Amino acid sequence: MHSKNNIIRVKKAKNFGGEVSVPGDKSISHRAVMLASISNGRCKIDGFLPSEDCLSTLEAMRALGVQIDILEEDEFGPNGLMIHGGGLNLTKPKSDIDCGNSGTTMRLLSGLLAGQKFFSRLIGDESLSTRPMERIVSPLRSMGCGISAEGENGCAPILINGGGLKGVSYELPVASAQVKSALLLAGLYAEGRTSVVEPLRTRDHTEKMLDFFQAGTNVHENEISIDSGQVLESRDFVVPGDISSAAFWLVAASAFPDSQLTVKNVGLNPTRNGILKILVRMGAYVSESVGTNSGGEEIGNVSIQGGKLKGIEIGGNIVPNIIDEIPIIAVAAALADGKTIIKDAAELRVKESDRISVVAENLRKMGADLQETSDGMVINGGHELQGAELKSFGDHRIAMAFAIAGLFASGQTIITDAGCVAISYPNFEEHLIKLTSVNSRIFDRATPVITSFPDFNSKE
Ligand code: S3P
Repeated sequence: MHSKNNIIRVKKAKNFGGEVSVPGDKSISHRAVMLASISNGRCKIDGFLPSEDCLSTLEAMRALGVQIDILEEDEFGPNGLMIHGGGLNLTKPKSDIDCGNSGTTMRLLSGLLAGQKFFSRLIGDESLSTRPMERIVSPLRSMGCGISAEGENGCAPILINGGGLKGVSYELPVASAQVKSALLLAGLYAEGRTSVVEPLRTRDHTEKMLDFFQAGTNVHENEISIDSGQVLESRDFVVPGDISSAAFWLVAASAFPDSQLTVKNVGLNPTRNGILKILVRMGAYVSESVGTNSGGEEIGNVSIQGGKLKGIEIGGNIVPNIIDEIPIIAVAAALADGKTIIKDAAELRVKESDRISVVAENLRKMGADLQETSDGMVINGGHELQGAELKSFGDHRIAMAFAIAGLFASGQTIITDAGCVAISYPNFEEHLIKLTSVNSRIFDRATPVITSFPDFNSKE
């Protein structure tokens, strides 16, 4: 485990490129452990992400009585698991369940615990304890759950007295895959049918995985429904590489003249691959080849040829698809020629940090020209970036986004409190060293292939 005091030092890169396989998808790893735990038998999970967030979910399920054996592990933790699913009913935990820094653990688990006929209490770290939880408390309460947020302003700890749920139809006020997922999981335990209507399409890993485990969901336009009383049939599952982790390398390669990069075995779910579309619009050469499919999740390779990027406008339907990638997209925008407008992204203010304000602060320290807005930022790109000492604000994606910015800045960039990269990408630094050590310009420049993407999300 990385220490919370780690520092990342980056100098302007002379080279960037090569081949990399990013670790397992964070969103899918959480869901794989939860769904396998409530399935009716043994499930082997390969490619599990051994990051702090996903380990919070693993330990939470163990605290709820699920036997989880480690089949494989590397220096960062377990990545091959055998989960002994015991059906929908979990066991009352002996103490509070610690969700650490993980919003996905706290929100999805609340949905599962809403269906359990016992009392439980969910706690989190300082950052998680300031994040909005009323968004799950209120709909779960409307289903009949005894649930409340004990902290100030509807924040954690969350107290849950589960059981006795009734299906409802709920329109999400904000697009959130975590809230949608919590309600679908609660729906497994609720009398009748539970429906969730989302204002914009968000990542659909929960629906896909429930279907894979034979607990069918119905999707009609923006409405997703689930019926109670379904048995999750145990299944083995392979977690694809995380496109949100790949995004750091995809942006670095796109902005690095003549670089060549291939990210292998990465998840290409259409509700998550908006970053590729954004990079194509910014002028990058991107090619995508879908290879296999695991439990409904497409997996493939993505290749990039570096060049000069240009500013674009980003907002509307695509925002939930790229919500975790916006910090690194902002870095791309600072490196691009011209103006980039990022809007409709106010949700960034309630992530692991206020990502609008901290991205603006760090980019400004590096000499970028930008204005912060209430729901995004306007970046006038193309100014030379200078190395600076920057804070991560304890936010993994901020630490990694600014390590990438440092590859393009004069002098040295120092990211303090960077141990938080272990929240989602424990071997980030190892990959950073590998990809900056390769002289990628030895490759011939191939004919650019611009991939066409599904129409979904095209109305940004
Ligand atoms: C996630 C959904 C998103 C995302 C988070 C992971 C998930 O959060 O930002 O990193 O796994 O469902 P919201 O549901 O709050 O948008």
